[in-house]
Amino acid sequence: MTTKCKVLITGGNGQLSADLAQVFDNSDTVILNRETLDISKAQEVEAALLHHKPEVVINTAALTDVDACEGNATQARLVNSHGPKNLVTAAQRTGTRVVQISTDYVFDGTLGRPYIESDMTNPQSIYGQTKLEGELVMREEDLVIRTSWLCGIHGSNILKTIIGLAHRERPMSFVSDQIGHPSFTKDVADTIQQLVELQAHGIFHVTNQGPVSWYEFAQTVLDLMGRPPNQVTSITTEELDPPRPAPRPANSVLKNQALLAAGLVPPPDFRETLPELVEALCE
Ligand SMILES: NC(=O)c1ccc[n+]([C@@H]2O[C@H](COP(=O)([O-])OP(=O)(O)OC[C@H]3O[C@@H](n4cnc5c(N)ncnc54)[C@H](OP(=O)(O)O)[C@@H]3O)[C@@H](O)[C@H]2O)c1
Repeated sequence: MTTKCKVLITGGNGQLSADLAQVFDNSDTVILNRETLDISKAQEVEAALLHHKPEVVINTAALTDVDACEGNATQARLVNSHGPKNLVTAAQRTGTRVVQISTDYVFDGTLGRPYIESDMTNPQSIYGQTKLEGELVMREEDLVIRTSWLCGIHGSNILKTIIGLAHRERPMSFVSDQIGHPSFTKDVADTIQQLVELQAHGIFHVTNQGPVSWYEFAQTVLDLMGRPPNQVTSITTEELDPPRPAPRPANSVLKNQALLAAGLVPPPDFRETLPELVEALCE
């Protein structure tokens, strides 16, 4: 699909932005990384929007290390909460729509079914709290995309970690009591493009399908690599040693209900996309 509108993407060195850059690949697209646009600096944000005058800003920039956020709430809030606020304030002047990328961590993970967009938020970590604050500053015309368990070709992610450990024949353990939808940056970027073209607004869950635990996900990757399944051991969150500073939602499964209601096809089951990605990353 060719994009017709002028798009500015923040967080240009990140894994999702790399695939968004390919999806929105035209001469009008502007990609800015932390060095060229620090979203926590209001004046920089205003100057960038006034200069480029984008129709849409897609904000992928965030402090995504959830454990580091737990130890530095001030910095997390500056980027994950004030950053989106700065973008909305500047967007108000330039008539720009904002697409804010958000997360399953806005939920507490205790619900006994997949989360839909209107379910009550209740973040348990600093990362989740500050990302929710970033959602709440959006205007009616803006778009919030909640995704989960992101991985892709670019940047660092858990899939690359699993593949690296598998290659080095190192034993690994993953939790079986946290479930979610693994989501691939290319598939998520494709759906974001469709929503931008439709001028969609409000909150949309955008993930690949097929709920699994981290343990089952690691097993699926090992299987695709022809590695023995016993290279990964199943543990519980309580058994993690050392324990992680930030709590994770036990249930991270996001139902893509708003996409379905809009007549769009959600990203496919993760098992459809994974083989190609594993092959590419193993090359
Ligand atoms: N990763 C996941 O599993 C996941 C799950 C759900 C939602 N999300 C959300 O999806 C979005 C994209 O995630 P991702 O995995 O692509 O993240 P990522 O690879 O960590 O990329 C985030 C980028 O933001 C940049 N950044 C940090 N502070 C900034 C600032 N003050 N100004 C401008 N840029 C700044 C980082 O720059 P440096 O490279 O210089 O550090 C990094 O390149 C984020 O909003 C994240 O919260 C991620």
